[in-house]
Amino acid sequence: MQLAPMTRTHLTAVADLEFQLAPQPWTAAMLADELIAGAHARVLLAADGVVTGHVVTRALLDEWHLMILGVARGHQRRGWGRRLLADALQTARNRDGTRMLLEVRVTNQPAIALYRKQGFLELHRRRNYYTCPRPEDALVMALELASDAGHHSR
Ligand SMILES: CC(C)(COP(=O)(O)OP(=O)(O)OC[C@H]1O[C@@H](n2cnc3c(N)ncnc32)[C@H](O)[C@@H]1OP(=O)(O)O)[C@@H](O)C(=O)NCCC(=O)NCCS
Repeated sequence: MQLAPMTRTHLTAVADLEFQLAPQPWTAAMLADELIAGAHARVLLAADGVVTGHVVTRALLDEWHLMILGVARGHQRRGWGRRLLADALQTARNRDGTRMLLEVRVTNQPAIALYRKQGFLELHRRRNYYTCPRPEDALVMALELASDAGHHSR
């Protein structure tokens, strides 16, 4: 398995993965817009080239936002989510980012556990941030990048 920059050739596969993993999946068109807008986007590729994970982050000046993160079900719980997240954090640090922000469903225990382990702290709860399949609150979490060097990473 290896990480590689996400390109247009990956978009259908990433959208398929989103469809399998996310209640409100990003489409190939949304992903294409992110690439055009200059987002940092990576895929996790199996040895045969199959897309097994993805991460997209976007910078607004020095503040970065984790937009999407996913690992194919058959590959979860082997450290790949942590690896994709660490890569995004490192990129943000390399580009003088000061903070990474994200929203996560309050019921998404696997993702919340990953973010906490990586050092993210809960800022507040955003009511009914998600609309599908039913209204659900988001936890807004943040990681200060400057003070985080090496935090919990393996
Ligand atoms: C969240 C997600 C990306 C994690 O990917 P992963 O490759 O399984 O995660 P890792 O193996 O790197 O796990 C890292 C840590 O996160 C936590 N974690 C991950 N999955 C967990 C689970 N199912 N239950 C509890 N903790 C979990 C653990 O602390 C884990 O460390 P450990 O295995 O040493 O205990 C994956 O579950 C996923 O794709 N979920 C669906 C999409 C999604 O929810 N994306 C996030 C949207 S905000």
